Amino acid sequence: MPFRSKLPDVETTIFTVISRRAAEVGALNIGQGFPDFPIDPLLAQRVTEAMIEGRNQYAPGDGLVELRRAIASKLGRAHGVEADAVEGVTVTCGGTEGLFSAIQAAVHPGDEVIVFDPAYDAYEPAVRLAGGRCVRIPLLPPQFAIDWDRVRAALTPRTRLVILNNPHNPACVVHARAVLDELAATLRGTKTLVLSDEVYEHCVFDGRKHASVLSHPELRERSFAVFSFGKTLHVTGWRVGCCVASPPLMREFRKVHQFNTFSIATPIQAGIARYLDDKPQAWAGLSDFFQAKRDRLLAALAGSGFRPLPSQGTYFQLLDFSELSEASDVEFADRLIMEGGIALIPLSPFYRERPRLRLLRICVAKRDETLDLAARKLHEFTASRVRPVVA
Ligand SMILES: Cc1ncc(COP(=O)(O)O)c(C=O)c1O
Repeated sequence: MPFRSKLPDVETTIFTVISRRAAEVGALNIGQGFPDFPIDPLLAQRVTEAMIEGRNQYAPGDGLVELRRAIASKLGRAHGVEADAVEGVTVTCGGTEGLFSAIQAAVHPGDEVIVFDPAYDAYEPAVRLAGGRCVRIPLLPPQFAIDWDRVRAALTPRTRLVILNNPHNPACVVHARAVLDELAATLRGTKTLVLSDEVYEHCVFDGRKHASVLSHPELRERSFAVFSFGKTLHVTGWRVGCCVASPPLMREFRKVHQFNTFSIATPIQAGIARYLDDKPQAWAGLSDFFQAKRDRLLAALAGSGFRPLPSQGTYFQLLDFSELSEASDVEFADRLIMEGGIALIPLSPFYRERPRLRLLRICVAKRDETLDLAARKLHEFTASRVRPVVA
């Protein structure tokens, strides 16, 4: 019997495609966003202790209260956000579930959702499963600035949600407070909600400060914000994050969350809560840590022909290869895997209408040795392509 797909045109994600190709030929996979360095042993110890002590049964659906308190207190200290630990914070299965449950809670059939391209690939399928339609507005390099005239023109009475990603993956830009002011002014007088994907809140470079929608007095009440412990404690495989919103929005969010994942692994929550008790400033040096990695990679890439675009934040760095090839980014990424033994992520698949870009994304959340190896491979690839001119 033919299966009538709800997402007929959704393909395997570009991350899976590239990772598969890389595995087939044994290429260094440095496009996808996950750290390859060890976690703090104290964090592992705290989670192990929680398991051994028997904290292995269902956690409350909203999350362990001690973890929700730790999250609320950290949001206050880090971003000046006031969050209600009891009614305004829910622990989720990574940032991904936070996004999915918020979208299911907010979007009705026929609703429109404004999404900025290049867009993280989890947004659109979730909107479509809720019966909504994404209106995608492109942000173009090198600035990837939001064209507010286009946003205003796209707003209709059906616009239920605007999805903002700050810091933005894969554009690697950090939206300043002024962007939030502009968003607030644009949405004034509408019923449109905001879903702010802030999983890279602690990867902001060159003295920038993260501006959370939750710290904006006008946006606060209409916003869901999503965070990820995977990104901030280097544990992407633990699948733990949270959603924070005002109590009325959170009540609706929880209706979806309870039938989606119900609750998140108890010992992981208990372990993280204890760890944050031990180290309430666990996040303090993260931006400097990732910035040093970005700078190491950039120094090592000098003279390689790969031109870096400014990376203001996130785990990533964009590289422009237009000096090296006229190929599309998808073709060039494939060539790099096959001929250079290194896998990077092309940018154009993150757009609905793929512009002709010559940009690849590389992950800087890696050990220094991995970054050095990546730079060596990229230099070697370039050198192998520059053929001596025979007179
Ligand atoms: C922009 C963005 N949002 C959300 C996520 C998902 O986070 P998590 O791994 O916590 O589900 C990612 C992960 O790469 C991401 O880059």
